[in-house]
Amino acid sequence: MKILVVGSGGREHTLAWKLCQSAIVDQIYCAPGNGGIAQIATCVDLPADDLGGLADFAQQESIDLTVVGPEAPLVAGIVDLFTERGLTIYGPTQAAARLEGSKSFTRELLRKYDIDHIRFEVFTDAAEAKAYVRRQGAPIVVKADGLAAGKGVKVAQTVAEAEAHIDLCLEQGGYGSAGQTVIVEECLIGQECSIKVFTDGETVVPMVPSQDYKPIGDGDVGPNTGGMGCYSPVPAVDDEVFYYIVNQLIRPTIAAMAAEGIPYMGTLYAGCILTDAGPKLLEYNCRFGDPETQVVLPRLDADLVEILQATVEGRLGELDIRWKQDRCVCVVLASDGYPGSYETGKPISGLAQVAGWEDVMVFHAGTTRRDGQLVTTGGRVLGVTALGASYKAARDRAYQAVAIIDFENKYYRTDIAQRAV
Ligand code: GLY
Repeated sequence: MKILVVGSGGREHTLAWKLCQSAIVDQIYCAPGNGGIAQIATCVDLPADDLGGLADFAQQESIDLTVVGPEAPLVAGIVDLFTERGLTIYGPTQAAARLEGSKSFTRELLRKYDIDHIRFEVFTDAAEAKAYVRRQGAPIVVKADGLAAGKGVKVAQTVAEAEAHIDLCLEQGGYGSAGQTVIVEECLIGQECSIKVFTDGETVVPMVPSQDYKPIGDGDVGPNTGGMGCYSPVPAVDDEVFYYIVNQLIRPTIAAMAAEGIPYMGTLYAGCILTDAGPKLLEYNCRFGDPETQVVLPRLDADLVEILQATVEGRLGELDIRWKQDRCVCVVLASDGYPGSYETGKPISGLAQVAGWEDVMVFHAGTTRRDGQLVTTGGRVLGVTALGASYKAARDRAYQAVAIIDFENKYYRTDIAQRAV
């Protein structure tokens, strides 16, 4: 069987790593991939947004299954294009990917089906949005409606900050068409966690929960990033919280999508806040998380290819999917300066030393091979990941590997999973 993974980050490296453990896989391709993925898959020089080029490649190479990492190609309709061409692909259609692609679509769906209860309103007029913000007061959240590379959300501590973000979106075109509509929401306060599910549109199979560290600095200070590390499971997500999120938020959403005639197939990621009033939905994503995938898939005690095939074929309910009891911790090594500007091209050392360590996996996010040497190419460079019988064992092991792997200007948080320990 031939599989194509679309994307180039740590999430895609983890997907390729897990997929290539399947006995039914002959070859994995990744477009465009990275320096680490190239060690286990054939990298194809096609960007993830070249939908036509990817479909041509999948046809030429007779790819049996395509798995999409990032949201942009899903929201742009890669699944619809592949399906029209008779190609098998895992992920939601363009219409279903609106659960991530349009924040107002999601909130209005949840309101219509009485699923989650938070205060929000949707605006295209700046004066009306600002008047609403003044009535509600701060803190308050202003979000560009569409995809804005994770930058369209402002958690405003003052009315003035909220008004400035409204102007940026609606008056100054700061996020292009993604910001022509804004959604203003109540500010949810509490620990963040995520639960992802596999779903074929009817059956919903939850994955294990995880918790991401978004701010750049220890103690959650500084600007937000794509994620500086994470761990799974999450002590704050006890059975009651877990089943509330799965049964009261995610399952009704999947049923609502089916009722709307927009069945959702693929991975659905529920980002939640554990507020004093119970878990609330922060956002849905139409894909696996990054770096959450790096701590979720190592705990999967099943064949990922079988799961994805069964999902695409609408027979997910036939599978019995197991998870390991082990804890998993991922520490992201970044280039100093990220999420602002940073230098690249720095040689990476120490990878060979940890390569043989049991239960340690180094997933590459921003690397490439240049003149026979792995060098940095991104803000997030590596996700150093370890499994262990306890949070402490997994965390200690990950940080032992972090101490050995090196590159100039290496930066990482030192408190990943500390709260779980
Ligand atoms: N780590 C957050 C995300 O994947 O959206």
